[in-house]
Amino acid sequence: MAKQVDVLIIGAGAAGLMAAIFAGRRGRRVLVIDHAKAPGEKIRISGGGRCNFTNIHAEPKNYLSANPHFAKSALARFTPRDFLKMVERHGIGWHEKTLGQLFCNDSARDIIRMLLKELAEAGAVLELQVAVEAVEKTETGFLARTGEGDILSSSLIIATGGKSIPKMGATGFAYRIAEQFGLPLVETRPGLVPLTLDPNLLAELAPLSGIAVDAEASHGKTRFREALLFTHRGLSGPSILQISSYWREGDGIVLTIEPEVDFAALLKAAKRENGRQAAQTVLAQHLPKRLAQYVAERQALTRPLADLGDKALDALAQSLRHWVVVPAGSEGYRTAEVTLGGVDTGALDSKSLQVKAVPGLYFIGECVDVTGWLGGYNFQWAWASGHAAGLAA
Ligand code: FDA
Repeated sequence: MAKQVDVLIIGAGAAGLMAAIFAGRRGRRVLVIDHAKAPGEKIRISGGGRCNFTNIHAEPKNYLSANPHFAKSALARFTPRDFLKMVERHGIGWHEKTLGQLFCNDSARDIIRMLLKELAEAGAVLELQVAVEAVEKTETGFLARTGEGDILSSSLIIATGGKSIPKMGATGFAYRIAEQFGLPLVETRPGLVPLTLDPNLLAELAPLSGIAVDAEASHGKTRFREALLFTHRGLSGPSILQISSYWREGDGIVLTIEPEVDFAALLKAAKRENGRQAAQTVLAQHLPKRLAQYVAERQALTRPLADLGDKALDALAQSLRHWVVVPAGSEGYRTAEVTLGGVDTGALDSKSLQVKAVPGLYFIGECVDVTGWLGGYNFQWAWASGHAAGLAA
């Protein structure tokens, strides 16, 4: 005998749990299934174990999508303040770290516990370690064939996330279901991911591995100013993760190191005061020593300042202001925080996340072609899209 529910949600991550809460509160019989052993595994590991659960400044402009307007409706109807209210109602301590990023004081597990409590109070049921083998459309709804038996539902919400971190059970399941129902997909790529360098450049930058600096990373008109980290694989740190979502293979990115420092003025003043100093000594007042050394050596300008003309000093400063790096690639889904692209928003109703051509079928969260910046924006999309579908399904 097949189980029968009103709403079947596949995926007990951020979006699926949220959808279950809001559908359950409406009195719908809700079942959430997940193939993993525990729900919300990405919540658990997020934000270094403290979950950057939202960003107080989240707006549609912080999201990448082929249709930049699509996310507006869901984001407007469930805001960062709405999520914060839930967090506070459960007595979870939180703090703003930087740039509007809200984190738990203690543990990301507090967010999972909160969602599970809300889910139970809403009367929704969660079943783990249930693998879905196939999904079919029936006359009145959907049939999901699972290892634990068949499940019939009037509504079906796909909340299985993207492809990032396959080690944690990411499958690309949502895209397969989308294809099965003939929905268009926007090409998927790893986002919020460290960038790699070709072996020659990597060897050249090897002495800088482990150094972090304040930097602006830009690609076209898009720019992010946050920390940049040189690693033994290439470039990382928040400014690089952010720009990685905009970067395309073959493109260069422009780095401005310590954007507030006028290195040209600094070098010229130092030359006037004490021409015997080396350029790298002066640069090291504002840069890690190894980076100052590397920059001066790269320009072959390690002589005393008195021996260097103003043009040479300008060129040295410019090499920090406009440092073009052409990454070889990215670290891929193994370390990417998110998957860009996904179910084409053109196929979905922006208010409910329902598939326009298949009433009762919904796609929410990361599997949809809406991807946030680093800093709590992706969870906000998961909460907001889950809320939207939960109210409709
Ligand atoms: P999510 O991936 O959370 O959930 C999908 C669920 O579906 C999983 O439980 C999975 O097991 C299940 N599933 C998959 N395939 C299935 C199948 N075939 N059958 C059954 N179940 C299946 N964002 C942010 O805003 N702040 C942050 O601090 C972080 N930090 C962070 C750290 C790291 C290391 C990563 C990888 C990612 C982040 N993110 C983040 C991004 C954030 O985790 C992500 O955007 C959301 O978890 C997406 O929520 P979803 O519910 O869409 O998918």
